[in-house]
Amino acid sequence: MKQPFAIVEASFIAGVAAAGQIPPPALAEIAFAGRSNVGKSSLLNALLGRRNLVRTGSTPGTTRQLNLFHVRATDGLELVLVDLPGYGFAKRAKQEKSRWGPLIEGYISTRVTLRAVVLLVDVRRGAEQEERDLIDYIAKTKARAARPEVSLIVVATKADKIPRAQRKPAIMRISADFGCPVLGFSAETGEGKEALWETLRRSVAVASPKEA
Ligand code: GTP
Ligand code: MG
Repeated sequence: MKQPFAIVEASFIAGVAAAGQIPPPALAEIAFAGRSNVGKSSLLNALLGRRNLVRTGSTPGTTRQLNLFHVRATDGLELVLVDLPGYGFAKRAKQEKSRWGPLIEGYISTRVTLRAVVLLVDVRRGAEQEERDLIDYIAKTKARAARPEVSLIVVATKADKIPRAQRKPAIMRISADFGCPVLGFSAETGEGKEALWETLRRSVAVASPKEA
C-alpha cells in the first residue's frame, strides 16, 4: 500500500551556535548525529532532494553548529530535521570541541520536540566508542517525562563505497554490534532513501499517538 510521498518544501530555518539561540520548539524534530565526515549533511541533502541546501565538505568539521531545516511532504507531514556537528573532529581547535559537546548534549537531553536521533556510521567502520557513548547518552535521557521517548535509528552511510555483494554482510555485522536494525544508505546513489523516509515517518507517528 504505497502512497505517493515527495518533499514539497525544504528550507533552512536557523543555525545555532549556542544553546540560547535555538528557536522555540514547535514541530517534531529528528536529529542526525555521527562522527565528523560520516555523511550527515550529504544524507540530509539526499533526503530533502536538494543538492546543496545543506553544506557538505571533505574537511571533517564542515558543520559547526546545529542547523535546522523545515520540511513538508505531499502527505501533509511537516518536520524539522536537525544537522548536528560531527564528533571526533580531530582537525578543529580543542576549544571548539569542548564547546560542541555541551551544545549537542544539551539539545539531545532537553529538546521537548525531539522524536528521533539518527546515528550515522560509515559502512566500512561500524560501531566505535563514540557511537556507544552517544547511545548511552540518549538512553539516559529516555525517561524524561516532558516528552515522548526518543527513538534511535542507525544508518550505515557511504554504502556505494563497498561492492554490492559485501553490503548486506557489512550491515548485518553493524546491526549485530549495535543490537538493533541498521539501514544502508548512499547519498551518492540514493540507495536506502525510501526505506529511511519510511522509518523516519514511523518514528514521528509512533511518538505522537494523538489520533489513537
Ligand atoms: P561534518 O559536517 O564535518 O560533521 O561532516 P558530515 O558528516 O556532514 O559529512 P558530509 O556530508 O559533509 O560528507 C563528508 C564527505 O563524504 C564529503 O566529501 C561527501 O561528498 C562524502 N560523502 C557523503 N556521503 C557519501 C556517500 O553516500 N557516498 C560517497 N561516496 N561519499 C559520500
Ligand atoms: Mg556536516
